[in-house]
Amino acid sequence: MSGLSSLMPVAASSTAPPTDHLFLSLVGLSAVMALSLTVLAIVFCVRYRRGSGADRSRAPDHAYGLEWTWTIAPMLAFIGLFLWGARDYAALTRPPPGAMPVYVVAKQWVWTLEHEDGTREIDELHVPVGQPVRLLMTSQDVIHSFYVPAFRIKQDVVPGRYTAIWFTATKAGTYHLLCAEFCGTDHASMGGGIVAMPPEQYRKWAARGETGPDLAARGYRLFAEHGCAGCHDARSTVHAPDLTNLFGRRVFLQDGRVVVADESYIRDSILEPGKDVVAGYAPVMPSFAGQFSESDLMALVQYLHSHRSKEAPPP
Ligand code: CUA
Repeated sequence: MSGLSSLMPVAASSTAPPTDHLFLSLVGLSAVMALSLTVLAIVFCVRYRRGSGADRSRAPDHAYGLEWTWTIAPMLAFIGLFLWGARDYAALTRPPPGAMPVYVVAKQWVWTLEHEDGTREIDELHVPVGQPVRLLMTSQDVIHSFYVPAFRIKQDVVPGRYTAIWFTATKAGTYHLLCAEFCGTDHASMGGGIVAMPPEQYRKWAARGETGPDLAARGYRLFAEHGCAGCHDARSTVHAPDLTNLFGRRVFLQDGRVVVADESYIRDSILEPGKDVVAGYAPVMPSFAGQFSESDLMALVQYLHSHRSKEAPPP
């Protein structure tokens, strides 16, 4: 298998080895099956062709043992392959705790990637080796797809909703970032690079001092400027849901549903507040659709994510 692995693109993330293992096993199994079926078909065609002198006298009506075997064995193999693939796929949806958040906005034909500390990169993302990174992504126009072959990750980036994926870079280097969903004229050139750096070097890069306010602070400013605090602040006299410690909490809705407050829930609550009215509250919040850019919404998400205590909000 190691010989075959050298045919694969460079493997530079923790996801790459298990993905290659599964892929090469599938290719190997398919090759063995295709080859043995082809050889058997040819052998039988030649041996039992019309007019051949092959002995047909011992042909049974049924060979139950054989029939059960070729029914059950492939079925077990396919169930096994399904479980194997499902396990690896499920792992891609669960970032390890403490993953570094990166906010990604795609548009024709650029990737904007924003760090928690407010650093914004275009078509390029710097990350430390060995650190899990979670990407929360959305699109401003059409469907794009975030694809890093060396990391073996690919995730559609869809307008109007959030998708997420994570990776841990295992090898320093610069790796292609591509768009893997046809998105218009310049789709082919919509790409860039992921720069995986040794942690020490990354710290230096991150501390080179060009950042503005961090994302949560920018989110808080938007929160205050758009009057959100007027109702949602803990000191407000308006009867509105308290957003302290909102993130990850279970929310009981008026129509009886219970949802977990994640990024998508927060986004929907800002843009379509009438859709998921919280139990015990009047549906009075106006929609803020069209008032925030996708980047602003992500800043608000990050602010609410970090808004864990009733003490003074960030400056
Ligand atoms: Cu974006 Cu293709």
